[in-house]
Amino acid sequence: MTSVPQEKVLDNSVKLLAEGFPFINHRVSRFQSNIFLTRLLLQNVVCLHGPEAAKVFYDPDRFVRKGAVPKWVQKTLLGENAIITMDGDAHGHRKSMFMSFMSPDGLHTFNRLLQKHWKAFIHKWEKQEEVVLFEEAQELFCRVACEWVGIPLREEEARLRAQDCAAMVDAFGAVGLRHFRGRRARSRTENWIKNLVAQIRKGELTVEEGKPAQAIAFHQDLEGNLLDDVMAAREIINLIRPTVAIAYYVAFGALALHEHPVARQKIADGEEGYAELFVQEVRRYFPFAPFVGARVKEDFSWGGHWFTKGTLVLLDVYGTLHDPKLWEHPEEFYPYRFKNWQGSAFDLIPQGGGNHTTGHRCAGEWITIEAMKVSMIFMAKFMEYEVPEQNLSYSLRRMPTYPKSKFIIRNVSSTN
Ligand code: HEM
Repeated sequence: MTSVPQEKVLDNSVKLLAEGFPFINHRVSRFQSNIFLTRLLLQNVVCLHGPEAAKVFYDPDRFVRKGAVPKWVQKTLLGENAIITMDGDAHGHRKSMFMSFMSPDGLHTFNRLLQKHWKAFIHKWEKQEEVVLFEEAQELFCRVACEWVGIPLREEEARLRAQDCAAMVDAFGAVGLRHFRGRRARSRTENWIKNLVAQIRKGELTVEEGKPAQAIAFHQDLEGNLLDDVMAAREIINLIRPTVAIAYYVAFGALALHEHPVARQKIADGEEGYAELFVQEVRRYFPFAPFVGARVKEDFSWGGHWFTKGTLVLLDVYGTLHDPKLWEHPEEFYPYRFKNWQGSAFDLIPQGGGNHTTGHRCAGEWITIEAMKVSMIFMAKFMEYEVPEQNLSYSLRRMPTYPKSKFIIRNVSSTN
């Protein structure tokens, strides 16, 4: 039995694609309820919104990930049966390995590589008439990620590998052509990395000790077995592909710098702590993950609803980041809102909520924040450029989304 609002429809999947990011939030407002029932992909789905619901969603005693991510998303974005689909001790063991890469040393190395590549790209852009920032940032981050992970990347393949990583991300909310591009990109990338894993294991390719590619190639599961070549490749890709995805935030961050010259000046002047406030607001304000999904582990009751084992539950990421009860004037871009933010694990959830080590919260959240700080500082302080007339709007119906023109800049010069 339930006392929560329920949509009386056969299926709402087409509406989800048509409405895009605000799909859950539209209904939360209409029903005036942080929980409602609908039908998606021909099954009953419970939608949850807000930090109280997020706390429940991230309780591993109540939810599991097995069977939560549709196969077509696994075959493009995430890799079949990889970390995001795991539960319990097996997930904890795999996640500990991922989080070991995020040590202060790991982050420091990432930061150093990122600065090196930003400098090189700015010098390259100085010689170009026009730069499509979103695409260039994908390649920049692909180079950083491969070097950080320990995967050799030949000069002539960098662009293609970056495009493939971007195509996997671009496929997540897509049907048709974009989906098939994502599948092709995934199989090409898995073949590439799988062969390198085999070479690392045979000692034909030497990777510096402690680099993630080495650690993943020789990681043992709880039974003491190595991951098979394909699974090891998928987990290596689970570091490279999302790092390339930071290009989405770079494009949005560039847009925010463009639209908020005062904020840009504060970053250029090095106002204490401001770059981080700015980056947090970019992650809150701009759309990326619309929601995350899980399945009910065992029957339980919450919020006036009886959750039955196996039911698919979606947590509203985009809507929670734009909830006026949590964020004053959520549709305004206002970095200072984070000055007094208490740092809850359940309200700023663009990369998931809860605990990084014990739950499914994004393993790369700290890298993303650091990478964005460095990138915004480079853009505001260490380079000058013009932003010509172009279509900078972005659609909330497309998932994922980015400024339509991909943020074009001209007359780049280094100020360093
Ligand atoms: C998981 C978003 C960057 C690695 C996730 C999740 C989201 C997310 C929404 C799922 C959380 C959940 O299911 O509860 C993002 C966004 C990024 C980003 C928006 C930046 C654009 C990164 C980076 C890395 C990374 C840079 C690695 C270097 C992972 C991994 C998981 C994950 C391994 C699976 C964690 C698990 O299942 O325990 N990310 N991410 N992500 N992310 Fe990210």
